[in-house]
This record gives sequence, C-alpha cells and structure tokens, in this order.
Amino acid sequence: MSDAIQVPKAELHCHIEGAAPPTLVNRLADRHGIDVSSVLDGNGKFVWSDFTTFLKAYDLASSVFRTPADYALLAETYFRMLAAEGAIYGEIFISPDHAQATGLSYRSYVEGLAEGMERAKAGTAIEGRMIAIGVRHFGAAAVERVVKEVIGNPHPLVTGFGLAGDERSGHPANFSKAFRMAAEADLGTTAHAGEFGGPDSIVAALEFLRVRRLGHGVRAIEDKDLVRRLADEQIVLEVCPGSNIALGVYTHLRFHPVNMLRKAGVKITLNADDPPFFGTTLGKEYASVAATFGWTFDDQMEVTRTAIEAAFCDDATRKRLLVRLDSARQIPGEGG
Ligand code: ADE
Ligand code: ZN
Repeated sequence: MSDAIQVPKAELHCHIEGAAPPTLVNRLADRHGIDVSSVLDGNGKFVWSDFTTFLKAYDLASSVFRTPADYALLAETYFRMLAAEGAIYGEIFISPDHAQATGLSYRSYVEGLAEGMERAKAGTAIEGRMIAIGVRHFGAAAVERVVKEVIGNPHPLVTGFGLAGDERSGHPANFSKAFRMAAEADLGTTAHAGEFGGPDSIVAALEFLRVRRLGHGVRAIEDKDLVRRLADEQIVLEVCPGSNIALGVYTHLRFHPVNMLRKAGVKITLNADDPPFFGTTLGKEYASVAATFGWTFDDQMEVTRTAIEAAFCDDATRKRLLVRLDSARQIPGEGG
C-alpha cells in the first residue's frame, strides 16, 4: 500500500457542484431534459478552455441538480469517493445561488446535501461540514443575500461562509458587510484570493474580510513581506495545485509555489477545488505534491493536521478527528 493511501486526508476546499462526476451530470441531464452537450464531450469529459469558460461550464453542469434528492445523491457520491481515498473529513462549498437558479430554496438545498452527507457518514465514518459561498461576480447584494439565508436558516452542518467566483471582478471592500455579519453569527470565514489576483488582492481580502483562511492564496509568493505576514499570522491556505495548473496559473507542478510557501512557514492544506473539471482528486493532490517535492509521510500528516486544526467544526469533532489522524501513526509508513 502506498503512503498516499495510508495518510488520512482532509479537504477544506471543494465546490460541491464542481465535484459532480460527468456520469452523474449526464444521468440527471437526461432525467430532467437538459442539454449539456456543450460542456461534456463524447468521452465524458468537461469541456472548457479558460477560467471564464470554466465558470460557464460549471454553471451549466450545476443546473442539472434540481431536487433535494439530486443534491443528496451528489453529496453522498462525493463524500464516499473522498472516504475511499482515505479522507476522514471534508468541507464543501455550497452555492445557494446555483440552487436558486433552478428554483430550489436554500432550506431544501441544504437539507438535500445534508441527507447525502449523513448517508456517506453512515457508510464510511467520513465527517463533513458545509460552507455557503457568495459568488463575487454576482455582486455585493447577492453575497449579502446568501449570508442572510444562512443566518436565518441555521443548520448544524453549515458552519462557514465564503466568497468564490471571479476574483478579477469587484473589490473585497464590497463584501466587508457580508463577512462582518457572518463573523458576528459565529460562522467560520474564508475567501478566494491570490488565485487570479496578485498579492494586493490577498492583502485586501485580509484587511476587508478579516479572514484567517484563504482559498488558494498562492500568489502571495510574489511578495516576500506578504509571505512573512501569512506565516506570522498563521493564515491557512487552501491550496489547490491541480486546479491552478489546469487553469494555467502555473505551467507545471514543479513551478507551483506550494513547497516554497510551506518552507517559509506558511500553513498549507491540499485540496481538489473542482475535481473532475481539473482531472484531479484529493488523493491525487497529496500523491503528486509528495512525489514532486519529496514530502514524506509525516509531511503529509502535517498537511492533514493543519486542515483539521483550521476546520470549521466544533471542538469535540476536531478532537475526534485528531485522534483518528494520530492513530494512523501506528501503521508503519514506507516513506517515513
Ligand atoms: N467556483 C468554482 N471553482 C472556482 C475557482 N477555482 N475559483 C473561483 N470560483 C470558483
Ligand atoms: Zn475554489
């Protein structure tokens, strides 16, 4: 058995609609009479060519999920796949705007997803939480609507609030009110920054959104002072190397800054973002980073520990997950 299988894993950054396997998208598209041929090729692969067309493909693929049962199936499928790769914990980004676009209420959306997560947990013991995201390019009013829905309809598995979408649009200052509301409601907060935007985008997210976790954040590497700040303030990066390469942020994994950031003392987690769109999985992320940068079993354990420590879950759950993580040390690892 390889180290990649033995290391317990945790994922903090995965968009649930972006985790939909093409076979499931095709099946539900047939059921609901939706034409997805423009975003799925004959070989069952998602088709897109840059970030803008990726977001369009993501929107169309999301539109095949119409009912709570569809979302339950999606969540169960994803969490079972994650558990099969050795994950003990996963946080999913959920997008109430995408559900609403197909006529589903926030409450029905969340209840459907929660049902699927509970089924996966019953079968595999995988623990999960949801982070509701606002879509940046939909504007501040839409993002505020999302946080109000979350606060007005509390659910024990929805423990975070985040900002995704096109980082090239708008300024974090537009979303500071939404993030203040989320923090006051005791939701964990995270924002995509430093994926397509540079260091100034990250600084603005830290200043205006007061987040302690960043989606991606990798372009901090372009500013030494910012790297030092992230390390000093123990900001946790939700790094998604395969996504960055698929979207052309970096050309090859060996040129990706994840290793340099870690060496500089920045807290790193590994994530798959939108796995089938980018030809990746959480297991592949751990394995490819370990192979490229020589990360040992213990290095990978530390990545999972960082994720669990930064997870938006209650402390009793965190403690249980850390016990499960530490029990993996009993298994002799080949690499360290
Ligand atoms: N929504 C889905 N995937 C995304 C990504 N990689 N960046 C920003 N928003 C997203
Ligand atoms: Zn993302």
